[in-house]
Amino acid sequence: MEVALSATPDVVAWTYYPAGLDEQAARERIGRQRQRAAQGIARRYVLWDAAGTELGTCGIGALDAAEPEVFYALLPAARGRGAATSAVLALVEWARSVGCATVALKTIEGNAASERVARRAGFTCSGGSVEEQHGRPVRLLRWTRVT
Ligand SMILES: CC(C)(COP(=O)(O)OP(=O)(O)OC[C@H]1O[C@@H](n2cnc3c(N)ncnc32)[C@H](O)[C@@H]1OP(=O)(O)O)[C@@H](O)C(=O)NCCC(=O)NCCS
Repeated sequence: MEVALSATPDVVAWTYYPAGLDEQAARERIGRQRQRAAQGIARRYVLWDAAGTELGTCGIGALDAAEPEVFYALLPAARGRGAATSAVLALVEWARSVGCATVALKTIEGNAASERVARRAGFTCSGGSVEEQHGRPVRLLRWTRVT
């Protein structure tokens, strides 16, 4: 999944995925994510449909901060059937169950598909900031919702 997503141009364009991960680099990335999971900072999942087809990934980070942040990316063939929205709603429900009052997500300005997911999952845009992505400054929109 890491290799496939990092070979998907719009995933690289709109997320922090590096382009063109090989298997070793992907395994190293997963190892770092496992460390963050063990520290209680983040949780990251692969998404499957009921037939066992892998759809993409989702997760929740900043669990050590006041407001955790969800994230998601789908393989192109898995889009257009609400999988990202369902994943976000499941993560919001989990955040509620562990006592988080609000959840955030960030989109790079211009990511219309992800903005649709944010709105459909009940988030509203609460501001913007400039952060670095792939070594370049990008404008991010911050979306939040009450759990
Ligand atoms: C964001 C993402 C997960 C959405 O997947 P999805 O929910 O299956 O989304 P869809 O392809 O069905 O598109 C969602 C909506 O955006 C619309 N949309 C898609 N691409 C669009 C575009 N380029 N411009 C405008 N609208 C667009 C779709 O028409 C759809 O509208 P609807 O709500 O009226 O049905 C998927 O596009 C993706 O993985 N993108 C790359 C990674 C990414 O951006 N991750 C999020 C980082 S914040």
